[in-house]
Amino acid sequence: MNYSKEILKLKKEKNALILAHFYQIPEIQELADYVGDSLGLAQKAAEANVDIIVFAGVHFMAETAKMLNPYTVVVLPDIEAGCSLADSCPEDKFREFKLEHPDHIVISYINTTAAIKTLTDIVCTSGNAIQIVESLPKNQKIIFAPDKNLGGYINRVTGRNMVLWNGTCEVHDILTTEAIIKLKEDNPDASIIAHPECNAPVLALADYIGSTTGMIKYTQSDTKRKYIVATESGIIHQMKKLSPEKEFLIVPSDSTCNCNDCPYMKLNTLEKLYLALKNETPAINMDKAVMDLAKKPIIRMLEISRKLKII
Ligand code: 13P
Ligand code: SF4
Repeated sequence: MNYSKEILKLKKEKNALILAHFYQIPEIQELADYVGDSLGLAQKAAEANVDIIVFAGVHFMAETAKMLNPYTVVVLPDIEAGCSLADSCPEDKFREFKLEHPDHIVISYINTTAAIKTLTDIVCTSGNAIQIVESLPKNQKIIFAPDKNLGGYINRVTGRNMVLWNGTCEVHDILTTEAIIKLKEDNPDASIIAHPECNAPVLALADYIGSTTGMIKYTQSDTKRKYIVATESGIIHQMKKLSPEKEFLIVPSDSTCNCNDCPYMKLNTLEKLYLALKNETPAINMDKAVMDLAKKPIIRMLEISRKLKII
């Protein structure tokens, strides 16, 4: 079956919108109505006026879309598409952690479960994290969860001393300075660009640090012709598409391949996307009380982002 053709046909018949993250396979990115980072995808989901949203991403993203557009059916092609960062912050442990820091407010990265969002004051993404932290008074005590790498990076940039939850993304945290230095030795003319989920020694080598959208925009506006890219491999598709004259070298996650794939993002396939749209399942269903509470810090993030003209 020609899945792409069938998906486009069904999309029209069912008044559906396909949202895809930059880490999806190229075939899915090409089909999508919108491809973006977590912030852009949340915004698009909130604005969508359709009957079905097919979310080609991971569970916390589809859950966020559902919260922002509760009367729309939101399907995730593979319901097992989770996230190691979200998994690194279980609700019971985080409740205890919060109790240990009673005078702190909680800023959570969007890569969390709805349960963690119910314990959060403001959500952020890598596209607005620094500005959101800086929008708060200097003496405001903050817990940042769940990514210690992103949190540590924000602390260094803003001079804050946020208390960090000890979570990481298994895809970014394993990238090594050795792999980057080796690529740089072989390609001395290349710039190093990194996602802030990478560990601190890797970030210290980077010429540019930013969200997936930030990294793509940087490669478009910068004058270099070659980039060492420290994030998930899927991003290369848009980079090449937007700057075909440039060269992009992904930092390999191990010595066996020149790739770095998120095992959760890559669970989505064209076939699963087709079936999800056709059968309208697996759909995201949430408890209303959890949804109402978890939505508040996301709305707050969108309001601050609008006020600061980030979106
Ligand atoms: P952004 O696309 O928001 O930069 O996030 C990357 C990521 O890890 C999503 O899971
Ligand atoms: Fe989660 Fe990392 Fe995969 Fe993003 S790349 S979905 S943070 S495991």
